[in-house]
Amino acid sequence: MINIEIELEKSLKDCETSKVLDAMNYSLLAGGKRLRPLLLFEVCRAYGIDETVGIPFACALEMIHTYSLIHDDLPAMDNDVLRRGRNTCHIEFDEASAILAGDALNTQAFYLISQANVRDDQKIKCIEILADCAGINGMILGQALDLEAEDKKISYEELERLHRNKTGKLFAAPLMMASVLADDKVHLKFWHEIGEKLGVAFQIQDDILDVTKTSTELGKSNSDIDNHKSTSVSLLGIDEAKKILAKHFDEVNEMIKSLDINSDKLIALLDGIRNRQM
Ligand code: IPE
Ligand code: IPE
Ligand code: MG
Ligand code: MG
Ligand code: MG
Repeated sequence: MINIEIELEKSLKDCETSKVLDAMNYSLLAGGKRLRPLLLFEVCRAYGIDETVGIPFACALEMIHTYSLIHDDLPAMDNDVLRRGRNTCHIEFDEASAILAGDALNTQAFYLISQANVRDDQKIKCIEILADCAGINGMILGQALDLEAEDKKISYEELERLHRNKTGKLFAAPLMMASVLADDKVHLKFWHEIGEKLGVAFQIQDDILDVTKTSTELGKSNSDIDNHKSTSVSLLGIDEAKKILAKHFDEVNEMIKSLDINSDKLIALLDGIRNRQM
């Protein structure tokens, strides 16, 4: 069984000492649910391949995700003070270090993939997937749409596009990268759709938790109302939001069960996500 915490610790061991490296380690090693690495490992297992092959890809994903959180918390974005049960990066260090720590986690992620012990064509495909999912057609686009939608009433279609990009793309990436590692190119689009659907459901849960739990319970600031965010709760209300997220989880399960893979553990992981309380 892979211990992702140990792998993440090792992933920055060869970097030169600096305040920015301290900030990177501070945020990367602060815990978190590690769902994107877990999804990548479970899809590898479902395909019957050795999941240790996925370690650098899982660490890369968690680096990109952590960078997105560090920047998301900055004063220019959500302006939050608590993340993963501790001070946000810019509060613990300073804004410049937090910006650079995010930038460096982003670049280090691609460096890790370049060093992975798999075929070059698999590495290149994974780099393409991760860059696409994290970049201007993915998470960054979603974050841009999120900021543009502050203080506005947007349609549900616009909100779903925002969620698909902001959150869905970084759920699609682990599923697609595992599929590449398993040499299944046929289902890449299908995994992409599964990931986006799962991400939308996950973000709806996040929006609901933001208004139903305390920030102490969540280990992070719950600032959506203060920031006048367009969320599934502000747009639809909690009951309707819950209906939509249940439909998305059902569809994700059906799609996965239609594949010819050994998905029991993956489905169990998804059930755990569906029932999450933080
Ligand atoms: C938080 O993601 C940001 C969203 C996409 C809602 P997670 O809830 O996966 O955060 P960690 O990694 O567990 O801290
Ligand atoms: C951010 O969404 C998702 C990212 C791409 C970082 P949120 O702003 O809702 O995430 P939290 O609630 O701060 O974790
Ligand atoms: Mg945000
Ligand atoms: Mg935020
Ligand atoms: Mg949120």
